[in-house]
Amino acid sequence: MRRRVASLLARSALPLLSRLDPERAHDWGLAGLRLLHPLWPVVDVPGALAVPCFGLKFAHPLGLAAGFDKNGDYLDALGAMGFSHVELGTVTPRPQPGNPKPRMFRIAARAALVNRMGFNNKGVDHLLARLATSRFRGIRGISIGKNADTAIEHAEADYVTCLRKVYTQADYVAVNVSSPNTARLRELQAREGLERIVGALLEERARLKMRHVRHVPLLVKIAPNLDTEQLTSMAATLRALGVEGVIATNTSTDLSLLGSAWPETQRGGLSGAPIHSLSIAVIAQLRAELGPHIPIIGVGGIVSADHALATLQAGATLVQVYTGFAYQGQRLVQEILTALALNGVAPALADRGLRPEKRR
Ligand SMILES: Cc1cc2nc3c(=O)[nH]c(=O)nc-3n(C[C@H](O)[C@H](O)[C@H](O)COP(=O)(O)O)c2cc1C
Repeated sequence: MRRRVASLLARSALPLLSRLDPERAHDWGLAGLRLLHPLWPVVDVPGALAVPCFGLKFAHPLGLAAGFDKNGDYLDALGAMGFSHVELGTVTPRPQPGNPKPRMFRIAARAALVNRMGFNNKGVDHLLARLATSRFRGIRGISIGKNADTAIEHAEADYVTCLRKVYTQADYVAVNVSSPNTARLRELQAREGLERIVGALLEERARLKMRHVRHVPLLVKIAPNLDTEQLTSMAATLRALGVEGVIATNTSTDLSLLGSAWPETQRGGLSGAPIHSLSIAVIAQLRAELGPHIPIIGVGGIVSADHALATLQAGATLVQVYTGFAYQGQRLVQEILTALALNGVAPALADRGLRPEKRR
């Protein structure tokens, strides 16, 4: 009965929301979900899907990507959709409004979005207050970034401030150096930038680990618009630094993937179906360069179970969705979990000599 009510509500809400301005639809959709999620049936997850990864146990490989719930305001409602992990943020030390609206655009015919949000968020302290009241039992990732008015030369101070604040609340921390909507941020993906930012974070983590007797994995989230040489150099740097994992990929600055469906003069980051092949090419090269033991969270253009399986097959250990979930809601989560249970995760990982239950 609960399942039928929930699916009826979802089926009637999605077409209505799709007529609203995309950012308003996102906010109203989440507010509705928060109100109604106690009605949602518990999502059944077969135990065989569990994936141990960077010292944590994920109930299954599928999570929600960063940016969907930037402030932790909807964590319990999103958790009820069946995700094994939710990556909150990106948060910055101080609250900031982000770029002027409109800043999120639908290209429904291509199952895509273009956004230039610019890290709009209520600040890290707000996120922490929300986490303190949450009952979500899954894995909580927290994505951290820098304020728009912090000079790129001093960016490490913002990242370190965020790490200090979230340390006891995060299961893992994602270092976002790949958003296309904060000026010069992606420069931090070059070797000097990574060494400066990630190096400072690793030093601070060593101190925090001693103080709190707790090890929080650090992951770096990268852009899909890196050429093969840049990726090779980045993989070498990340290995040398010793990060626990990589999240690939953020949105793409190559809007030509949309062809004539998008005016040349409008900028932003592209997500959804058109970036899937770009994203899995990055994952496949990273997997080859990083070797089998550094986990990759694969994200980008997963809008069906087949896309999720292809991302795992390319070398990802876990996967995340954003745009596919924005368009399809919980139906996509169910579809992916069913496919993984039927045939997906074990073969995809076994191909690389890994078994979901036996990995470190
Ligand atoms: C509106 C919007 C906001 C986003 N905000 C963030 C963010 O704050 N931090 C981040 O790391 N990624 C952010 N992303 C990128 C997503 O987490 C994801 O990497 C990207 O959309 C590709 O996945 P998809 O094709 O499934 O959407 C955002 C994406 C969208 C569409």
